[in-house]
Amino acid sequence: MLEKIWRKKPTSIDEEPFSVRVDKVRKNSVPIHVAIIMDGNGRWAKLRNLPRVAGHHEGMKTVRKVTRFANQLGIGVLTLYAFSTENWKRPRFEVDFLMKLPGEFLTTYLPELIKENVRVEMIGDFSALPLHTRNAIKNAMEATAYNDGLILNFAMNYGSRLELVNMVKEISELAKDDKIDLTDIDECLIESHLMTSHLPEPDLLIRTSGEVRLSNFMLWQLAYSEFVFTDVYWPDFDEEYFLEAIEEFQMRSRRFGSVTDEVNIVRS
Ligand code: FPP
Repeated sequence: MLEKIWRKKPTSIDEEPFSVRVDKVRKNSVPIHVAIIMDGNGRWAKLRNLPRVAGHHEGMKTVRKVTRFANQLGIGVLTLYAFSTENWKRPRFEVDFLMKLPGEFLTTYLPELIKENVRVEMIGDFSALPLHTRNAIKNAMEATAYNDGLILNFAMNYGSRLELVNMVKEISELAKDDKIDLTDIDECLIESHLMTSHLPEPDLLIRTSGEVRLSNFMLWQLAYSEFVFTDVYWPDFDEEYFLEAIEEFQMRSRRFGSVTDEVNIVRS
């Protein structure tokens, strides 16, 4: 148990210092879009005899760390799964707490995000969020709308199945109204009706906490992404674990169904 609480990756004597490893990241094949399922907040808290929400609060600090590091590495988009369409099933107190976190995060860090040229965006069903959550996100989106650095994209009240159902409804309406022909339905049209229509597909998906599943996250968009699963709980995830995931990504051979052996082609 204790080992799990204090577990930090042991640094071997011959391991290169962090800064050297950062310098060695190949800048031309950094993932353009990284998506993260931030999992393990509750278990992190439980190990410390803290309430689950303490884990979420600590997890918010990790959001800041990974945002800054992603920006430093030149990643284009960082999508963070902050609240799923299924998370409403959690106890009311926990849901209320999670709904307050964007407000707290953005109040605390918005000046820093603006200074660092980060653009805040959101995917998910905005309309069902409490007004204070909507206002916090809307305000941050407006304040950062002209930034052209990292896109920090919160998936909030997001569910991939809901997104796919909505896409089917929208396209069916177009067909019903004779605005498109059935032969017009292709991958491009489908993508243009997803919440991520303005974003490239994730090159890399990271999930923390040892769970190995997608939990209704970006089911269409992750078709050709590289997956990295780590045992570390989200509040303990830091720049070093993030770097490890990037290093792992850069070792992968991405073929997109073809046969080339080229390592790590980022699809344009
Ligand atoms: C899953 O862990 C985590 C969540 C459902 C919430 C994630 C939210 C944050 C990390 C904070 C987000 C911050 C901002 C700024 C929006 P879990 O609670 O399911 O953990 P468990 O599996 O150990 O119980």
